[in-house]
Amino acid sequence: MRIDALLDSNTNARPAILVVGGAGYIGSHMVLMLKEAGYFVLVFDNLSSGHRSAAVLGDEFIQGELGSKQALQQVFKKYSKTHAHPIKAVMHFGGSIQVGESVVDPAKYYQNNVANTLVLLDVMREFDVKAFIFSSTAAIFGAPCVIPMDEMHPKTPVNPYGRSKWMLEQILEDYDRAYQLKSICLRYFNACGADPLGRTGECHEPETHLIPLILQVASGQRAAIQIFGQDYPTPDGTCLRDYVHVVDLAQAHLKALEQLLAGSESAQYNLGNGQGFSVQEVVSEVEAVTGKSIAVVFAPRRQGDPACLVAKSDRAKQVLGWAPEYSELREIISHAWAWELKLAKKH
Ligand SMILES: NC(=O)c1ccc[n+]([C@@H]2O[C@H](COP(=O)([O-])OP(=O)(O)OC[C@H]3O[C@@H](n4cnc5c(N)ncnc54)[C@H](O)[C@@H]3O)[C@@H](O)[C@H]2O)c1
Repeated sequence: MRIDALLDSNTNARPAILVVGGAGYIGSHMVLMLKEAGYFVLVFDNLSSGHRSAAVLGDEFIQGELGSKQALQQVFKKYSKTHAHPIKAVMHFGGSIQVGESVVDPAKYYQNNVANTLVLLDVMREFDVKAFIFSSTAAIFGAPCVIPMDEMHPKTPVNPYGRSKWMLEQILEDYDRAYQLKSICLRYFNACGADPLGRTGECHEPETHLIPLILQVASGQRAAIQIFGQDYPTPDGTCLRDYVHVVDLAQAHLKALEQLLAGSESAQYNLGNGQGFSVQEVVSEVEAVTGKSIAVVFAPRRQGDPACLVAKSDRAKQVLGWAPEYSELREIISHAWAWELKLAKKH
């Protein structure tokens, strides 16, 4: 269902989408795309890791805490069915995202990613909003049994971050059965890249993702990049990962939203580029794009790092009609580099 089918025939009022975590990396790209598609975009974020400059890209920014029932009720009450922009769906990007931190502080992850999200789902039920799109992750699968990994791959997460996301997916299945709350869970592999027009990009503190870390070496913010393990059973001995452009992720969300609003059933989709790039390949590509030589320090393997993680995204292609537009590593890195140069200027 395209947005024109949802417009009020008398007023042409645009339906609102509540984007929780819309001030973060992936959420802010979604906000831009939703606005371009004609939705009224509400950004709800506590700015714990998001940025005010990204928060204001929507139509309204509400600085609020996901675990606060009162704060959420206020938003749903204001944008209820009688408002010119009634909330039709919620996209949930808000969460705690660091795998390593989840191992040393699991309480933070179960609180934020599970308990706080239950508050959001309660308020959605209270206000009869029944469409939910959830940022899930490849971390729900744990060590791969087969490559590439499709939706049916066994779910044996190996850290609290992955477990918190898998718990939420299971909760959503129960909520559909009991309350008819329809959801689409999108399991991203490695999100990367930046808005091609340079309006937003990745800026995590601390940064734990490979591409921005290498780019920080190129921009002089970091002395060297550590590569963990060079004895994996891969062509160059370094780990292979599936890097999917953040704009392609946003595109998949938009298609999922259209399906949910058209009355589709709940579903889960793996989202990846479909090809693996090794850490060494990413380093070489960064050197080619930036023209800088990257200092590399080799370190032993990290526990729990599989040799290879690659998605099979056929279901998203067939059912959502999704296809990654920016699957070339060079293009991904060029967009991320343009953003990194912007960030480096601010330092
Ligand atoms: N970045 C990746 O490669 C990746 C891969 C797989 C899945 N994901 C998932 O995608 C989602 C978005 O990831 P991201 O990289 O954009 O992370 P991010 O940290 O940039 O964004 C998360 C946003 O949520 C907000 N937030 C966190 N807790 C909140 C709370 N309690 N109340 C209100 N706002 C809160 C933060 O301030 C931030 O703006 C996360 O749920 C993450 O688990 C990310």
